[in-house]
Amino acid sequence: MNQNRKYPSIIGALSMLLGLYGPGAVADEFSDADIDRWEMEYEVVVEEGEKLFHGGLGNQNTVSCDQCHPNGANTHPETYPKFQQQLGKVATLWEMINWCIENPLQAEKLAADDPKLIALQAYITEERKGVELMPGKH
Ligand code: HEC
Repeated sequence: MNQNRKYPSIIGALSMLLGLYGPGAVADEFSDADIDRWEMEYEVVVEEGEKLFHGGLGNQNTVSCDQCHPNGANTHPETYPKFQQQLGKVATLWEMINWCIENPLQAEKLAADDPKLIALQAYITEERKGVELMPGKH
């Protein structure tokens, strides 16, 4: 094999290593102040989800999540993804929330990245903090 042709790939591998473990990694460092801020941002989203869960989605029939799920805890986020009979497939938590939004709440389903759907998931999941993950469980 031609030795000269080997060098570019070695240089390439070296620069990749430097990129991964060198200056690139330094940019990912964070401080206690960052963690405080991130936790605060998370809390705000959880609180928003709690409000939406207890009526706040603006649906015309005014049905709210807590009428059938008295608190977030009986929504079993730790069992997702799992096969959901209503959807006829293995589904994620947000797809099941959308099923409830479309059916009992008779409202338009939300986009996966809709802040309201993210907030609902944050609240529901926070309610089950510490529970062992059991994806696929019924
Ligand atoms: C009229 C009653 C009703 C309302 C209101 C309702 N749901 Fe549901 N929900 C159900 C039923 C029925 C199921 C399916 C039963 C099951 O799979 O546990 C379900 C299932 C779920 C599940 C999956 C539970 C599991 O154990 O896998 C989640 C999550 C959920 N609902 C969230 C919500 C959210 C969020 C709202 C409000 C936007 C809401 N639901 C409103 C009746 C309701």
